[in-house]
Amino acid sequence: MFGDGVYEVWRVVNGRLFEPERHLARLERGLRELRIDARDVANGDEIDRIAERLLTEDGLLEGEATLYLEVTRGAAPRTHQFPPAGTMPTVYAMANRFAPPEELRARGGAAITVPDIRWLRCDIKTIQLLPNVFAKEAAAERGAIEALMVRDGVVTEGSHANVLAVFGDVIRTHPLDHLILPGITRAVVIEIARELDIRVDETAFTEEELRRADEIFLAGTTSDVMPIVRVNDRPVGAGVPGPVTKRLFDAFRAHIDRSCAAVHTSP
Ligand code: PDD
Repeated sequence: MFGDGVYEVWRVVNGRLFEPERHLARLERGLRELRIDARDVANGDEIDRIAERLLTEDGLLEGEATLYLEVTRGAAPRTHQFPPAGTMPTVYAMANRFAPPEELRARGGAAITVPDIRWLRCDIKTIQLLPNVFAKEAAAERGAIEALMVRDGVVTEGSHANVLAVFGDVIRTHPLDHLILPGITRAVVIEIARELDIRVDETAFTEEELRRADEIFLAGTTSDVMPIVRVNDRPVGAGVPGPVTKRLFDAFRAHIDRSCAAVHTSP
């Protein structure tokens, strides 16, 4: 009733969760920040059990899927303060078939900019997503795939993905602080970029600087690495997916496939 909870979305390939530990760590941190004690219902073993059951019963052990899980403060009489100690948190989970948007990736998507009207703890993955919903709807109404949020002139992130931009031979992105979600995809992409000897500078860029970016891309569980080729109806660089973005996507996809490769055991 109060949007008083946190959630996670895992990518699943061939029945295996991508980066399970990092998502679990973010969930645990969010629960700690919200002071929800869900150790009995949302620990690693329990999530593995939930995932296995959902993926099996929903026929999602092959191909691509997502696993969604949210933990809210629990059922109790409606008062704004926390419910009585011992109230059992509510866990909700679902698994869904997922089709990576490869056609869109090949041509790249458009984005718009919107004011970032969210609260000041965007580092917590809470289920309160109304500003994100409005941002994404504004984008959709203008034929764009994402809204890039701008706070005090600075680009923070998208409605459901982090945003990175290429300036010359450097990738820049907002640093990890209270203004953005610490995206798992963002973290993996930064590690991959560094392995490829591409410099990454976690220094935020302004909306003004964004207009001069050579390439822009999103990073998120349901976006992977997604090129943005237009912002507010102006082309980004050459107006087509750029070489750094493509290189990072290829390396990122190979990384997903490697880490989710089926384990073959001999009979
Ligand atoms: N969204 N920033 C925001 C605001 C997000 O909602 C998300 C993810 C990300 C990327 O985080 P990650 O790489 O860990 O998925 C960044 C999920 C996918 C969602 O709400 O569906």
